Amino acid sequence: MKHLISTKDLSIDDVNELLDSASNYQNGEFEPILSHKIIITLFFENSTRTRSSFEVAAKRLGANIVHLDVAKSSTKKGETLVDTAMNLDSMVADAIIVRHQNSGVPRILSNHVKASILNAGDGAHAHPTQALLDLFTLREHFGELKGRRIAIVGDIKNSRVANSNIDLLTRFGLDVTLVAPPQFLPKTSLKTTHNINDIIGRVDAIMSLRTQTERHSSQTYASLKDYASDFCITKDLIKDEDLIILHPGPVHRNIDISDEALADPRCKVLRQVSNGVAIRMAVLKKLLS
Ligand code: NCD
Repeated sequence: MKHLISTKDLSIDDVNELLDSASNYQNGEFEPILSHKIIITLFFENSTRTRSSFEVAAKRLGANIVHLDVAKSSTKKGETLVDTAMNLDSMVADAIIVRHQNSGVPRILSNHVKASILNAGDGAHAHPTQALLDLFTLREHFGELKGRRIAIVGDIKNSRVANSNIDLLTRFGLDVTLVAPPQFLPKTSLKTTHNINDIIGRVDAIMSLRTQTERHSSQTYASLKDYASDFCITKDLIKDEDLIILHPGPVHRNIDISDEALADPRCKVLRQVSNGVAIRMAVLKKLLS
C-alpha cells in the first residue's frame, strides 16, 4: 500500500493490522524505524490536532519532518497545487501529508508524485486517520465492536469525519444512527432522527461533531445557541447512561458538548487525541517502512 486517501483504500485486515500495530505505540513508545525518511506536511486548512499528531508520530519513529507554510508559499504567487506537489516531490520526500479544503485533492496529487500521499482531511470527503483513531478508541473501550450501537450527532452532511467513520463503523458491524436537523443530514440508508432524545437508552456511544460553518454557503441555523438547545450533549441528556462520548475536536464548548459532559469520565475526547498519535505511527510504519 502506497497512499492513504480514504478508509475505502483499506481492507478489514488492513484496518485490524493497523489497530494491532497502534496498540504497541499507546504509551508513547519511540521506535526509530523511519530515521532515514523525510516527510513533508502541506496544510491548506487550519489544524491543531491532526498536524501535530502526525508530526509527533513521525518524530517518535525517528523521521524528519519539513512543514511547508502554505500562507507564505508560492501557491500564493499563483503556482498550481500539482506544481507545488511535484516540486516538493523532486526533493525526494518519502511522504507528503496533505490537508485541503477541496475534496479529491489528495487523490489528484497521488497521480503526480512518487512520494506516499497521506490524506489529513479533504473537504467534506474523507479523513481516514481520524476514523481509524475513532475506531481504535471504540475497540479499546468495548473490545468486540460488532453489534455496538453508535449515534453520530451534528453536521454530518458537511463532515469528512462522519463520512470516513460511516464507512469504517458499518464495515465493522456497528449499528449507526445519524442524529441531525434535516439540513445536516446526507442522503443515507442508515437510521436517522432529528430528535436526540430518541437515541438515549439505545446507544453505547455518541460521536458529536462540530457544525462545519466554513462549508456552509448560507446560514443553516438561526444561531449556534439554537442548534445547541436541540443537539448539545449535556449531563441532563446522558444522565447516568452507560455510554461513551467521542468528538474529533475542535469542540465548540456548550454547543456540541457541555462543559460538564466534557469533564465526565465517559467523555473520551483526550483519549482520542492520545490514540491518534499511536494510529498515525502505525499508518506511517505501514506505508513507509
Ligand atoms: C476535524 C477536521 O478537520 O475534519 N478535526 C480533526 O481533524 N480532528 C473536525 C472538524 O474540523 O470539525
